[in-house]
Amino acid sequence: VGGRIRPVTPAELATHNTEKDAWLAIRGRVYNITYYLPYHPGGPEELLKGAGIDATELFDKVHPWVNYDSLLAKCLVGPLRFDRPDAE
Ligand code: HEM
Repeated sequence: VGGRIRPVTPAELATHNTEKDAWLAIRGRVYNITYYLPYHPGGPEELLKGAGIDATELFDKVHPWVNYDSLLAKCLVGPLRFDRPDAE
């Protein structure tokens, strides 16, 4: 079930918070970081601090210059959605 970009609610994002299934959001975009974990220069543990949440602040505290959107282009799940939580 791949290739489809679709909105993600904060509640759904929160369920992807383990090293086997990790998503995080930065500036309103949700990424599946599961496969990037072993390659993160700061180590998987650091990256996992942002799993399941909006990791914008954590990210910016360490390296606001890193081009995450380019690195994670193929890992984009979709936009983080705050409105219409019950809509399809
Ligand atoms: C480096 C933490 C998310 C890419 C680092 C380092 C830390 C860190 C502590 C420094 C490692 C060192 O200097 O020894 C975090 C945290 C994140 C996060 C807490 C979010 C929870 C990301 C994401 C990406 C990323 C989403 C990109 C997909 C990198 C890169 C470096 C790095 C490229 C090397 C930066 C450089 O040397 O200029 N990270 N990271 N990180 N991280 Fe992250």
